[in-house]
Amino acid sequence: MPRKSLLKSIKKYISGADTPKLAGLNAIPGMIEPIEQKLLFELAKSITLKKDEKIVEFGSFFGKSSRCIIDGIIQSNSELNGRSVSALAVFDSFSCAVDGPFAPHAKEFADKGGVTHLLSESDGILSFVEIFKHYSKDVDKNTLSINQCELMDMIHDHSTIRLIHFDLPKWYEEYRTLLNRFAPKLANGSYIVYQDFFYHWSATLIAAVYIWIESGLITPISTAASTLAVKTNRAITDADIAELDLVMTQRNEEDIIDSAIHYFEQFEVDRKEIFVGRLHLANMQHCFEKRNYKKSAEIMAGLISSNALSSSILANDFKELIYYGFSMRTLYQLDH
Ligand SMILES: C[S@@+](CC[C@H](N)C(=O)[O-])C[C@H]1O[C@@H](n2cnc3c(N)ncnc32)[C@H](O)[C@@H]1O
Repeated sequence: MPRKSLLKSIKKYISGADTPKLAGLNAIPGMIEPIEQKLLFELAKSITLKKDEKIVEFGSFFGKSSRCIIDGIIQSNSELNGRSVSALAVFDSFSCAVDGPFAPHAKEFADKGGVTHLLSESDGILSFVEIFKHYSKDVDKNTLSINQCELMDMIHDHSTIRLIHFDLPKWYEEYRTLLNRFAPKLANGSYIVYQDFFYHWSATLIAAVYIWIESGLITPISTAASTLAVKTNRAITDADIAELDLVMTQRNEEDIIDSAIHYFEQFEVDRKEIFVGRLHLANMQHCFEKRNYKKSAEIMAGLISSNALSSSILANDFKELIYYGFSMRTLYQLDH
């Protein structure tokens, strides 16, 4: 679908003028907003997958985002019979540590869906894979393949990828692992959807994604809540990923995030005050973690003088940064 008509169609759905009827979607508890669900649905619908092409998702949880993609695929012109690969491959450990930071969320969402009986605990691990299977039991193998594994074991089967949905990597090193294994299989003109791009804990991801925006390898096409969707301008090579790694080690991430903020201030961003505000918070978090307290304090002063913290959402995000001492990494690592 040409970019203009895709954007028009996303806007139509976002405005609620034409709400998709996604059977089963509303029943699945999930972590993405309706506007993000619609974006995924529309992008998947706009792609005509050949029999050996697929969409890949990292981070599916109970399957809400997966269902949006599946519904998009079903309403697209993709070939769904006799496929050599499933149309959507999802990757997730579908588990977390019983005593880790994610378990309370998994339990709360399971409770919301009335599926607590499908959670299981063994050797300190809480598994929710049966919940994903429960919510996707009507989907056939031509359409969906479930890959239950930890990030380090996520590998690709060499088919061509037309869309990647990232809702798993929390920092650059995790993102790089997935890029190395999957990005060179993205066709020219593919979509990459970054969930939690406009997020106060995503500093290194923001920097890494922005480096490719700046170099022209990818172009942002739309934002929805914390999600950024981009289109690739050519095939991504191993050399591009090696170059990205070099830039990430040589350049100051704080400066890259400043440039990203400047870029997105000019771009049409969903609820700009909040979501561009999150980029400022991410930079403040990163500076603090890197012990650049001076710049961190300057960013905070800027947020106060621009009245950004009068938004209760940003004020809460700020409170969360303080609550976790401006660093979540040790806590996150308990789960995986
Ligand atoms: C934010 S949730 C995904 C939400 C989902 N897309 C939705 O629509 O509700 C992130 C998911 O990534 C998975 N995950 C995070 N880090 C992981 C890792 N290192 N290895 C495997 N899975 C991981 C978690 O198990 C979790 O299900």
